[in-house]
Amino acid sequence: MKHIDPSELSSRERYRLMISSIIPRPIALVTSIGKNGVVNAAPFSYFNGVTSSPPIISISVGYRKGTAKDTGRNIRETGEFVVNIVSQDIAEKMNIASGDYPPEISEITEANLNVIPSELVSPPRLAESPIQMECKLYKLIEIGEGPNDLILGEVMRWHLNTDVKIDDRYHIDPASLDVIGRLGGPQYCTTNDVFEMVRPKVGG
Ligand SMILES: Cc1cc2nc3c(=O)[nH]c(=O)nc-3n(C[C@H](O)[C@H](O)[C@H](O)COP(=O)(O)O)c2cc1C
Repeated sequence: MKHIDPSELSSRERYRLMISSIIPRPIALVTSIGKNGVVNAAPFSYFNGVTSSPPIISISVGYRKGTAKDTGRNIRETGEFVVNIVSQDIAEKMNIASGDYPPEISEITEANLNVIPSELVSPPRLAESPIQMECKLYKLIEIGEGPNDLILGEVMRWHLNTDVKIDDRYHIDPASLDVIGRLGGPQYCTTNDVFEMVRPKVGG
């Protein structure tokens, strides 16, 4: 058995341990827009749902050499963003969008993505993403060294592409999404191997 004290590791080692222990992680391909009007797209896998009423999601956006990443800066400036869910067929475009482009370069052009206007927020959504969630900033909390911006966003509008199957109880069929998850390093997984378990009924 191995025991690891994270305080004895370098920040890079702690990062590797975190992202290879907590797997698979969902990926938010976040669109945001800067004061310069450039539409930005970047993936974040420190991403999850936090609560449902109201519907709040979290993303954690790091800093690059002491400067906020474009996504963090844009969300601080405008309080608006869109979470676009990543399916297998846009995996490569998502990866291209993760490149370290300067603020004046749009990942939309670099990754050859297509945008559609949002209804309630200024950043557009991605046409090729199966689910697009328009979000308004709920709270931003600076955490840790770096620091990281823990961004809590309230989902104001859901958009489901026509191929996405949803039943009348608002349950989406995962097979109709074909999303990918991030593992440690450059590894990803698919959601092709789904199994079911019904929760036990305890008591009455
Ligand atoms: C699958 C994937 C997940 C990522 N997750 C995060 C994350 O959770 N937080 C983060 O700060 N960077 C993450 N990155 C790196 C950012 O996408 C990258 O730094 C990007 O250039 C940021 O773009 P921006 O400056 O346009 O916001 C991830 C990259 C990939 C490929």
